Amino acid sequence: MSERQLQRIIASVAASDGAGVKLRRSLGGQTGQRLDPFLMLDEFYSDDPNDYLAGFPSHPHRGFETVTIMLDGHMQHRDHMGNEGDLGPGDVQWMTAARGIIHSEMPQQTDGRMRGFQLWINLPAVEKMKPAAYRDIPAQAIPKAKLDGGGIARVIAGSLIQDGGATDGPVQGHSTEPVLLDLDLPAAAEVRIPLPVEHTGFVYLYEGDVLVGDATQSLPRRAAGELGRGDSVQLTAGEQGARLLLLAAKPLHEPVVQYGPFVMNTREEIEQAVNDYQRGMLTA
Ligand code: FE2
Repeated sequence: MSERQLQRIIASVAASDGAGVKLRRSLGGQTGQRLDPFLMLDEFYSDDPNDYLAGFPSHPHRGFETVTIMLDGHMQHRDHMGNEGDLGPGDVQWMTAARGIIHSEMPQQTDGRMRGFQLWINLPAVEKMKPAAYRDIPAQAIPKAKLDGGGIARVIAGSLIQDGGATDGPVQGHSTEPVLLDLDLPAAAEVRIPLPVEHTGFVYLYEGDVLVGDATQSLPRRAAGELGRGDSVQLTAGEQGARLLLLAAKPLHEPVVQYGPFVMNTREEIEQAVNDYQRGMLTA
């Protein structure tokens, strides 16, 4: 048994996306700061409507998957396939853009807190041009597992295996085999969570304090903590408890060429994506 240790910290930077939504970007914030197959992680968190009201009007994606995890607030999704989804607290939207999707993500509130995450997960070359798919996952469809060391894990993707058995999340069978856990640990809880040994893994602390592995200093908040290799990770919550995402997936080891919302393997494929979009053929 080998424990994963904190290997690198990728701090978040203030960024703005869509029509001016203010957010913190850790992965994807600076060139090359990706953790294969994870391309980007944004946290949006504000009590000020001016930070989020403009939303994300119609825009394209090609070549990867976007996962939106809402904690607080209310957003509406609309896409070219006719899907409409209301995302509320605890809900998750899993969109496989693949060949192409054109969609908007707009706040459905004019005051109060808006808080959540958007994660981009790459697709292997052979799946980048498959048809787009869209899935709304309501909070009640996401199982909550009691952790052996205290606290709760919401299992969004993949499975959590403990002595008492496995808890399977609603998202299974993707080729990168993502494991996405939203953890809520009470003060001083000590948990050990198994992860597939070959997966890239990282944690993102959004509340409280947590020690990762043998570390003696808490992970900085709003930063991605890359995990080294191993088959499990030990997390110890501080006096305030901790809320964090634990994410892992199988690396692709393929070239990544990104131009804004298009992520392909070569420059030619990016030029094709831009061309297709300009000709209205992105999703055709
Ligand atoms: Fe989007």
